[in-house]
Amino acid sequence: MAEASHSWPAHVAVIMDGNGRWAKQRNLPRIEGHRAGIKSVQSVVESCRTLGIRYLTLYAFSVENWKRPRKEISGLMALLYDYLTSEIPRLHRDAVRLRAIGQLDRLPRRVSQQFRRIMEKTASHRGLTLILALSYGGRTEILDAVREIAKERKKGREQGGEVTPEILSRHLYAPDVPPPDLLIRTSGERRLSNFLLWESARSQLYFAPQMWPDFGGEQFEKVIVEARKARESGERIEA
Ligand code: FPP
Repeated sequence: MAEASHSWPAHVAVIMDGNGRWAKQRNLPRIEGHRAGIKSVQSVVESCRTLGIRYLTLYAFSVENWKRPRKEISGLMALLYDYLTSEIPRLHRDAVRLRAIGQLDRLPRRVSQQFRRIMEKTASHRGLTLILALSYGGRTEILDAVREIAKERKKGREQGGEVTPEILSRHLYAPDVPPPDLLIRTSGERRLSNFLLWESARSQLYFAPQMWPDFGGEQFEKVIVEARKARESGERIEA
């Protein structure tokens, strides 16, 4: 399909929730839910291209997720590594630029190294910017920004005086990325779960009932089309 040139939403952020419940409903181990979730990631990325969306941020692993059983964490890290590695040709084919927000250094070395390598190789791509939130926490991001400002001021690199919203925004993990216009959460839960707390101040929120593995590109496209219509007519989204 030809790429659309809609300018809204420029940035969509997604809390991919419900992989565990999807697996449980099928008597499968939780990791199978995450594996099925990757298929949804692939089809949503594909849909962003056809919809003309510039930025997609996916909440792939939160700082709170480190409290999960060791086996689930290592399974998720292995899936992430395999996803990154197998996706390289497609990222180049579709000019997707890969970015990360979060504490990349807390990830297993081979995952963070692979991530950095791919970010470098795709840095000049001008298609979709795919941002994975990994070991990410909204409060941690704001705290990291405050700490960085304090450090710079101590070294005399930043001028003193009042800390403004603009100064804080410049110290977030991806300061050049516009804030999300639309934030989607799947699985029927209606919480932000520490995701993009600063950036989502003015975002539209949409809560989808489907578990993430059941929410593929097709559902994503429906939500975007409805959100666009609602925006044009000044209504709320009821997709
Ligand atoms: C939430 O479901 C999902 C996660 C914690 C991880 C999301 C990860 C993936 C979709 C796969 C890897 C990601 C990429 C980008 C390759 P949950 O386990 O909290 O589900 P539950 O609430 O039903 O238990």
